[in-house]
Formats: sequence, structure tokens, C-alpha cells
Amino acid sequence: MTRTLVTGGAGRLGRSVVAALAASGREVVSVDRVAAEGLPAQQFELDLLDDAARHELFTRVAPEEVVHLAAIPAPFAAPDDELYAVNTGLASGVLGDALRVGTRALLAASSPTVIGYGAPEGWAPAYLPLDEAHPVAPWNAYSRSKVAVEELVRETAEREGARIRLGTFRPCYVIAPEEWAGAPTQQGHTLLERLAQPELSAVALFNYLDARDAGAFVVAWLDHADAVPNGAVLFAGARDALVRGPVREAVAAHLPSAADAAEALGERDALFSSARAEELLGWRPTRSWRTELVEVEGE
Ligand SMILES: NC(=O)c1ccc[n+]([C@@H]2O[C@H](COP(=O)([O-])OP(=O)(O)OC[C@H]3O[C@@H](n4cnc5c(N)ncnc54)[C@H](O)[C@@H]3O)[C@@H](O)[C@H]2O)c1
Repeated sequence: MTRTLVTGGAGRLGRSVVAALAASGREVVSVDRVAAEGLPAQQFELDLLDDAARHELFTRVAPEEVVHLAAIPAPFAAPDDELYAVNTGLASGVLGDALRVGTRALLAASSPTVIGYGAPEGWAPAYLPLDEAHPVAPWNAYSRSKVAVEELVRETAEREGARIRLGTFRPCYVIAPEEWAGAPTQQGHTLLERLAQPELSAVALFNYLDARDAGAFVVAWLDHADAVPNGAVLFAGARDALVRGPVREAVAAHLPSAADAAEALGERDALFSSARAEELLGWRPTRSWRTELVEVEGE
């Protein structure tokens, strides 16, 4: 049985990733500062920035696969210097230990925010939908830390060659299962509030991804890591935009600088494309707010 270590396994995204990995038949180990109830994994509670504790854990578990999610997960959630140092320090520490113990595949979480939307000085896409070829333009410590993680993974893949499969992914705004039923989302609003006030989602280009679809993405990446260019980054987002009504109208109203580029979008299209992940991994997001939320509203 493949042993897979998930960092940040008790978190919003981590819980669904752990569940999907366990359902795929893997032996899952979660490491986090806190434990989560009912997680189908062996859980270790420790600070991954503690080098000695992290070394010992990796030596003891010797994971064949690592999914690195632990981070300060949002812009401005901590002072700039701390946020950048924590996110880059976690990634380089975890990657270093994975290499040391002979891990054969590691996937780390980046973020769509690397693209640069929401910048106070303004931002416009070169084209829509956004894909992995679109230039990045980080403007805060969080998105800078994620660009650095992508770069660290890419450089390490170049250096380590065939020894390990490495990659990063940019999951769109993750919606955990309980959030379809009214629990607050990462930014504190419920989904119904986000749909009623499109300006809340417009700053992140109406992006989202069901956490179970994110879990399926991680399983697909680990199962098909050889099919992805080593060190590459992939977007992972829902196929539609998190907004009621035609997406071009919503973009024109709330993101005028993207209105021209949005002419290329269909009525319900997402502003992000996961086509590359679909092509390389055979993964497709299967959940939409249109199906998930309706079930709850109909109760
Ligand atoms: N939630 C989203 O919408 C979203 C979108 C894009 C990218 N991401 C990325 O996905 C990853 C997971 O995000 P999330 O929303 O699940 O965040 P989260 O805060 O719910 O989970 C992160 C987990 O990491 C743990 N952690 C943080 N620092 C640690 C440390 N030093 N040692 C051990 N554990 C530590 C936390 O305790 C937490 O349980 C992050 O890298 C985040 O940047 C999230």
C-alpha cells in the first residue's frame, strides 16, 4: 500500500484531500499543528517549521508520496515578512526532507492569486480564460510566497531529474462540503451571501472549486504524475463561475478592466481554465454551485 503524507491535512482543503487519498486505497498520514476529528489517517500534531521534529517525522514515516498543503492560506492573514517566511520555509523544509527520505512524488499547493488580480493599482488579464501560460504578477506577500514555491519546485525538478516527480497546483477558492450547507467560507461569508453580493467573488474572478473535486485532482495527479512535465504548475477550478446570470455581464459590471477579454467566455464559463489538468490527468471537476447549493436550498 502506498504511504502518502499530507501536510496541513486537518485544514479546509486537507480534510477532503485526506479523504480522497484514503478512498483511493492509500495509507494516509496527516501532519498538522492540530488534529481533525474523524480523519481517515494516522495523525501527527507538530509544527513543520521545527526542523528536528520534521526530520524525525519524515524519517519515521518515509512517505512514498507527499502532498504539501500546510501554509498561511490567504493574503494579509499575517504580517508580510512572517507570511512570506512561513510559506516559503514550510515548502523548502518539506521538500528537503522528502528528497532526503526518497519520496518519489510531491505535489505542493500554490494559488491562483499569483496571476495578480485585485492589485490596488489595477489589473487586466492578457486574455481569458486564464491558463498556466498567462504571466504572473504577484502583488502581496501571499502571492509572492506562492510564486516562490512554484519556482522552488520547478528548479528542484530540473536539478533532481528522474529521482522524484514534482509539481504545484493552483486550486481555486476551495468550498468544503459543509460550506454548501451554510458554513462560512474562507473569507467569512456564506455561499448564498457571495452569490447575492457578486462584488465579494469578483475580486477573485468568481473562481471556486469543490474540496472533493480538489481531493480527486490530487489523487489524479499522484496517479498520473509521470504524464505531467516535471516541476509544472496546473490550475484546478470548477468549470463555471461563482456568479448568478451571464458571466460576461457580471465581469462588465464588477471587473470592467477584464470586460474585453471576457467576450471570449461562454455564458457560464469560469475565468480560469483547467483544460491542461483535464488533458494530462484525465481529471474533471464534477461539482458546481448550481448542483451542490440547489440540494441544500431544496431541503
Ligand atoms: N482555501 C483556498 O481557497 C485555497 C486556494 C488556493 C490555495 N490554497 C492553498 O491550499 C493550502 C491549504 O489551504 P486551506 O484553505 O486548507 O488552509 P487551512 O488553514 O484550512 O489549512 C492549512 C493547514 O496547515 C496547517 N499548518 C499551517 N502551518 C503549519 C505548521 N507550521 N506546521 C504544521 N501545520 C501547519 C494549519 O494548522 C491548517 O490546518 C494552502 O497552501 C493554501 O495556500 C487554498
